[in-house]
Amino acid sequence: MQFTLDKGHFITGYFMERGLNTLCIHSGVEAKNETGFENYGAISYPIYQTATFAHGGINKSTGYDYSRMQNPTRNQLERIVTNLENGSACIALSSGMAAITLVMELFEPGDHILVESDLYGGSIRLFENISKKNRMAFTYMDFSDEKIEESIEKNIQSNTKAIYIETPTNPMMKIADISLIAKVAKRHNCLLIVDNTFLTPYFQNPLDLGADIVIHSGTKYLGGHNDTLAGLVVTLDHVIDEKLRFLAKTTGAVLAPFDCWLVLRGIKTLGIRMEQSQKNAIKIAEFLESQDKVDDVFYPGLPTHKGHEILKKQARGYGAMLTFNVNTQETAYKILEKVRIIKFAESLGGVETLITYPTTQTHADVPESKKIKNGITPRTLRLSVGIEDVQDLITELNDIFNEL
Ligand SMILES: Cc1ncc(COP(=O)(O)O)c(C=O)c1O
Repeated sequence: MQFTLDKGHFITGYFMERGLNTLCIHSGVEAKNETGFENYGAISYPIYQTATFAHGGINKSTGYDYSRMQNPTRNQLERIVTNLENGSACIALSSGMAAITLVMELFEPGDHILVESDLYGGSIRLFENISKKNRMAFTYMDFSDEKIEESIEKNIQSNTKAIYIETPTNPMMKIADISLIAKVAKRHNCLLIVDNTFLTPYFQNPLDLGADIVIHSGTKYLGGHNDTLAGLVVTLDHVIDEKLRFLAKTTGAVLAPFDCWLVLRGIKTLGIRMEQSQKNAIKIAEFLESQDKVDDVFYPGLPTHKGHEILKKQARGYGAMLTFNVNTQETAYKILEKVRIIKFAESLGGVETLITYPTTQTHADVPESKKIKNGITPRTLRLSVGIEDVQDLITELNDIFNEL
């Protein structure tokens, strides 16, 4: 049975009208052959741990030649993520940064990109240190601005080729109106690239809202267990997919079979993890709001959040990432030192609740002036809320606040 990755949606027939949880588990392929089942009926998709594939003769390929180009386990992951994002093709890379780097290779020296200024620090590091070296130019903007349409019009140039956003942003949780931005991007023949890591396809599908390319750090919610790095690029456009596929096979940062399998396994429980961590996040956001030593809580699930209504319009959930400012740097340090169930660590999107200090961790390489402009201070903490019993998380935080 052969599959190609650039011939449209993989969801056919029986799987067409199914819910997201069913698609997370079953949408890879309805694998059947003459014996009834492919892969001996294995319920867990096999790990094809092979670098290369035998040929029956000249021009007799099984469709798999060399694992940098194609691998069945990777193709299974790519099909599932394609389906979840309503795309037509997906490429699985060795990390989220490998995915973003691959997408940047679509551009040429002299190209200009409008970029959200409050992005994951690693993305900014890539643009500032590698892409700029390749003579690309960037204008950083606040895409949550109410006058974003005018602001794009003002900043767009004849060489602007793309708009690159996260929504919610990392770490300040700002919300951009994807359809509106897509409309303006199309008017100017620009690609809209959306990093959908925070909400995942379970809560948000940027391609349905007019985006051209969706990026994921699969390390986060898709993998879901803090045990592997992965990146994914999903697109609707066959020409872009072909370019990306050429770039992936040429530059080589594709995802290894075992890591593909870990992400496949993670995706099976994406829905229940997203729901549970979101429920926990809402309770923690409310708890933090009630604390004297907390000055601000940035969680788009709160009705007071500036982007709440836009998010409700374009997504099916708020996610489980939240950022808050405490009263002093000392309070921030104490919280980081005292947490026990909550772990002081970089990254996000796993079953474990993690607390991160953006200024020295995820956003360490963002220039100080940009951090200040974005609102990232030494009093800023970011929580990736996991699926533990929420009362245990709140009790831990409450005890810490009481001891301060
Ligand atoms: C929103 C976002 N995009 C991309 C990345 C990069 O992903 P990775 O760490 O898998 O390279 C991260 C990492 O934290 C992230 O938060």
